Amino acid sequence: MSTIGITDREFSRFQRFIYANAGITLPAAKKALVNGRLAKRLQQYGFGSYSEYFKLLTSGKAAQEVQTAVDLLTTNETSFFREPKHFELLREVAITARSRTQPLRVWCAASSTGEEAYSIAMVLADCLKGRPWEVVGSDISQRVLERARGGHYTAAQARNVPRSYLHRFCLKGIGAQNGTVLVDRALRGRVRFIQVNLNEPLPQLGTFDLIFLRNVMIYFNNDTKREVVIRALSLLKLGGYLLIGHSESLGDLTTAVKLVAPSIYRKS
Ligand SMILES: C[S@@+](CC[C@H](N)C(=O)[O-])C[C@H]1O[C@@H](n2cnc3c(N)ncnc32)[C@H](O)[C@@H]1O
Repeated sequence: MSTIGITDREFSRFQRFIYANAGITLPAAKKALVNGRLAKRLQQYGFGSYSEYFKLLTSGKAAQEVQTAVDLLTTNETSFFREPKHFELLREVAITARSRTQPLRVWCAASSTGEEAYSIAMVLADCLKGRPWEVVGSDISQRVLERARGGHYTAAQARNVPRSYLHRFCLKGIGAQNGTVLVDRALRGRVRFIQVNLNEPLPQLGTFDLIFLRNVMIYFNNDTKREVVIRALSLLKLGGYLLIGHSESLGDLTTAVKLVAPSIYRKS
């Protein structure tokens, strides 16, 4: 398939589009990425230019296509037990919460294809045994949410899941499913995946003991980041933890939380 080129002018329209819809700032270096990721949509509609596709997206009559474009323009890289220090903290918090009657509640706020939310759920199921807990996973992209709900991964994707957790919480594919891993129904049933745009007022989610807000703020400019963090922190309980990606920082965006370890903040 020969790809139609995107002009600078067209690219700047898509920059505005994804900023308006997801708060994502796409630098000029992402022009080729936008070109490549949207090429199939132009082909699907038989459009000869990115302007035609942009016209469709902004017509007000193509909500589903807007979602598809957002899905395609987000970057969903993730893995099980990514940045393991955070899971050590989660384990400590869960163990301390054993004596509580209230459920321990964790929000995985940019859950992508689900690996992060299921990693959290495995630790909670392990440490809290019969005690109550809840995990909410959310993302802007419907495509990744569908995959997260399915909980089906390649063995390579599941390579960081500890062996004992693989045995307890996952089914190994056989026959046609050889080389894949399915998070078992019981654990899947305990993780709720919903669509949440962090760049809009948040739905009623209740308050959380921990919020994983990892590797998503890198796509936001400072103003968006501040708004997203303030909104997320409004759902964090006093004494609760906000975890961000190791390459991210809150700088002086807020005084509502204090840095207690690299990429770990606590609300006081
Ligand atoms: C690189 S992944 C990070 C996944 C996971 N948190 C991790 O650290 O492995 C970033 C995710 O943020 C989501 N995202 C981007 N903008 C968003 C927004 N405005 N609201 C909610 N999710 C968003 C993307 O769809 C993507 O799945």
